[in-house]
This record gives sequence, structure tokens and C-alpha cells, in this order.
Amino acid sequence: MFGGFLGAGILKKAADKGLVDIRVHDLREQAEGKHRQVDDRPFGGGEGMVLMPGPVCKAVEAVRETAETPVVLLSPLGRMFTVDMAQAWAGCRQVILICGRYEGVDERVGLHLATVEVSIGDYVLTGGEPADMVVIDAVARFVPGVVGKAGSVAHDSFAEGLLDCPHYTRPRVFRGHGVPEVLLSGDHARIERWRRRQALAKTLALRPDLLIGDRPLSAEDRVLLDEIRKERKES
Ligand SMILES: C[S@@+](CC[C@H](N)C(=O)[O-])C[C@H]1O[C@@H](n2cnc3c(N)ncnc32)[C@H](O)[C@@H]1O
Repeated sequence: MFGGFLGAGILKKAADKGLVDIRVHDLREQAEGKHRQVDDRPFGGGEGMVLMPGPVCKAVEAVRETAETPVVLLSPLGRMFTVDMAQAWAGCRQVILICGRYEGVDERVGLHLATVEVSIGDYVLTGGEPADMVVIDAVARFVPGVVGKAGSVAHDSFAEGLLDCPHYTRPRVFRGHGVPEVLLSGDHARIERWRRRQALAKTLALRPDLLIGDRPLSAEDRVLLDEIRKERKES
């Protein structure tokens, strides 16, 4: 599953440049017995199989470089994955992601091995691989040099606690719908101000919860927000 994901696009380029080094480890390499079994039936009965703690622990212990390495168990029960986690892990020398399958991973892995359990949303995937890919991709974007223009990451949604501003490209008129005039003006200061205002307006309309987070807004942002709120009341 990881071949296509790691073998193309920005992540492949980042790996080729030595900016990231993403390794996939097969739990079966740490399994014992002829069948290299990694899962077993749940104690207490019931449907499905559970990943055994032994191979998972051995696999982590075989690659963990220091006791500080975050060991992340992907699980629907985990804390919601956020941009803050992505930024923090991008600064780590190593991050280990444990990917579950079937009914999940033996509870003792979460209790005694993982340093954090993380969910990518309130839904259940058949396996942790797509969740791992989400985390890898989001973390890699914060590794300096991975995304061409560092500025674009800094202005992306959530990075500054706001949603992104709208983007337009050619044609100037598409099916009767034009482009905001300011973007064609060539006045960079005006364009920057418009973008910031749009980002604030989008955030206020779509994700007001972000504005009551712990990221302080600048005085200029507060003025813009007041203007936007006033306009919304009037309309
Ligand atoms: C079928 S799920 C297990 C679901 C589990 N029995 C439950 O109801 O919470 C198998 C694996 O997929 C991964 N997974 C599924 N949904 C996920 C999510 N929303 N976030 C992160 N990982 C998820 C986890 O690694 C999990 O162990």
C-alpha cells in the first residue's frame, strides 16, 4: 500500500533529496513460528482478530533510536490529529507510527508502549495505513525544503490558526464568474490585505471555533475581524 504513496510526488522528491527517510516495517519480521503469526482471537470471544503485542513491541524496539522518539498508535480512540502535532513531529529526528488492522491492537500496546494515540477523524478505516499516510504527509510538509516555497506552508489552513484565503487562476472569467478585481490590480499590499481579510472571513464563517483558540490575533487582524462582523450584521 505504501509503494505508490512514497514512490511519487513531493514525498518521493523529499526522500531523494534526503530531507525525509520513511521506512515501512513488516510486523511479520518480528513474529515467531512457522506461520509468522501477528494476530490472534480476542480473549472473551467475539468477532475479528487482534494484533498481538509481542510483534508490535519487538518491531518498535528494533527501530526506536531513543526513549524520546514519539511512538504514535493510530486509533479511532485517539486524540484528534492536528497541525500542532504535525509541526512538532516534523522537528523530531524520528517518529514511529503503529498501524493497526482487524479489530485493532492489543490494549497493552496503547497503555505501555505508545506515547500517544492519534485519530484522523470520527470514522473507522479498515486499517491504519491510510491514517499513517495522512500523518506522514502532513508532518513531511513541515520539514524545511519539502514544500517548494516555505511561505505557502506558513499560509496554508491552520498553520496560523486560520483557514486559507481563496485562490483563483486563469481564465479571468469562467462560465460568467469573474475573479475579484483586487487580484488583477498588481497592488501587492492591497492583495495581501484582501487575502488576510478573506482568511479571517472564511474562518469566522466556517470555523469560528478556530478564532477562540489560543493563538492571539494581531491588532490589525482584530480590526479586520470587527469590520467583517459589522458587515455580516448589516447584511
Ligand atoms: C478496523 S480498525 C479498528 C476499529 C476498532 N475496533 C474500533 O472500533 O475503534 C483497524 C485499525 O485501523 C486504524 N484506524 C481506523 N480508523 C482510524 C481512525 N479514524 N484514525 C486512526 N486510525 C484508524 C487503527 O490503526 C485501527 O487499529
